[in-house]
Amino acid sequence: MKIDFAALARPKQGALAIVAGEGAKLSAFGTGLDKALGGALGRALAAAPRFKGERGQSLEIVGPGAGISRVLIYGLGKPADIKPEALEAVAGEAAKRIAATGETFLSIAADLPAGAKADLAEVAARAALGARLGAYRFDKYRTTRKEHEKPSLKTVAVLTDAVAAAKKAHQPLAALADGVTLTRDLVSEPANIIYPETLAAECKRLAKLGVKVEVLGEKQMKKLGMGALLGVGQGSVRESQLVIMQWNGGKKSSKPVAFVGKGVCFDTGGISIKPSAGMEEMKWDMGGAGAVIGAMAALAGRKAKANVIGVVALVENMPDGNAQRPGDVVTSMSGQTIEVLNTDAEGRLILCDALWYCQQRFKPQFMVDLATLTGAIIIALGHEHAGLFSNDDKLSEQLAKAGKAEGEPLWRLPLGDNYDKALTSQIADMQNIAGPGAGAGSITAAQFLQRFVNKLPWAHLDIAGTAWSKADKPTVPRGATAFGVRLLNRLVQDNYEEK
Ligand code: BES
Ligand code: MN
Ligand code: ZN
Repeated sequence: MKIDFAALARPKQGALAIVAGEGAKLSAFGTGLDKALGGALGRALAAAPRFKGERGQSLEIVGPGAGISRVLIYGLGKPADIKPEALEAVAGEAAKRIAATGETFLSIAADLPAGAKADLAEVAARAALGARLGAYRFDKYRTTRKEHEKPSLKTVAVLTDAVAAAKKAHQPLAALADGVTLTRDLVSEPANIIYPETLAAECKRLAKLGVKVEVLGEKQMKKLGMGALLGVGQGSVRESQLVIMQWNGGKKSSKPVAFVGKGVCFDTGGISIKPSAGMEEMKWDMGGAGAVIGAMAALAGRKAKANVIGVVALVENMPDGNAQRPGDVVTSMSGQTIEVLNTDAEGRLILCDALWYCQQRFKPQFMVDLATLTGAIIIALGHEHAGLFSNDDKLSEQLAKAGKAEGEPLWRLPLGDNYDKALTSQIADMQNIAGPGAGAGSITAAQFLQRFVNKLPWAHLDIAGTAWSKADKPTVPRGATAFGVRLLNRLVQDNYEEK
């Protein structure tokens, strides 16, 4: 799909999306359009009394004349409350809808009803972002679909009075869309295609954006003493990998920020095997790593003025004659020993070595890890918020704010010594699951991670409920959501970039 910016003028072909404010009031452009269409829009609005221009409402007029195949009118609510981001959802929904009609060309009029104050260049740029994200599909393995079953949309033209400024505002957002798209592709791929080595190879491709990429194999990790990570991967014929990505867009002297991702390319549970029903979902147990990779792509793609480290721990958790057994004791890189009472609590085992490595090597300003870590977070928060756990209020607030702004909301849950006690082992420094009756499975998982964080700000995002979606949203089609990419990009942009 191609995206263009063009002057705000009535298109001569294709479908057209326009906006209306409260009371179904059209913008100046909409009013002019209605005239050119001989009052077709006014008649449609009169015939649809329940369309009041509220946010989330839309009206479709098919065959309005003047060469236009359809007009979609989207409500934006009170003009004074309209934010540029509102156009993301409009464009995402319009792109999806038009792609199913056979129409190839969609124009989106990025102007606003009278009384709106949002910057028009930003509005147009956001419309382009929304169209791109909303039209995303993962279709590469469909080979037998007929032409009329495929998405038809080929070109989106964003119409604006501020073409040059919109193009400029769109540049960083195009890099963001590239990052989100990369993550969605990687997370959607099945585990026979994306496994530790192939995912590491995908990371290496970020070199073309200026990212420095190093890949450690099992031999090197053994030397470093990463017994916890290696134990998880030892039942797999696929070699475990640790990938270190560096984007140095900031001053040499400025300390990096660091993101760490759980990359379990497939989680069978290991010897503590999961039930077969639904196990196919565990191909997306690398969603945390996927988000870190996409965020690195977005930051490098827009040349963010910050030093950023991305570390992803890539393994496959399999049952096998050589697999780790329940009861095994492993020694982590930190030196702390872990009794593995459940081989399905593997995410924390790979993250503890990745976090330790990252903190020792880079001494970052802070670390944020992302992981599809616990089913319990879905019990607590469903699919609406990801869980946020942190030892630092400032970092928590920055993350929560960034998540809210980007439609990737977080909800903070507590940490505390009494939760930590549940990890006491009979024979090792800790066990990898809490003892019976502890409850709070997402919190005790976070407590486990915290044992590997020294005195630096750290946050853990449990994205088990948000990395994948069964619901179809305007800019987040069902499937891999890439949750975390927008949030991390915004966190850096708002707080950690040099001016
Ligand atoms: N990858 C899973 C968590 C998960 C569950 C993600 C459902 C998405 C949907 C994780 O490795 C896991 O198996 N966690 C266990 C932990 C338990 C053994 C303490 C869980 O949540 O059941
Ligand atoms: Mn598991
Ligand atoms: Zn897992």
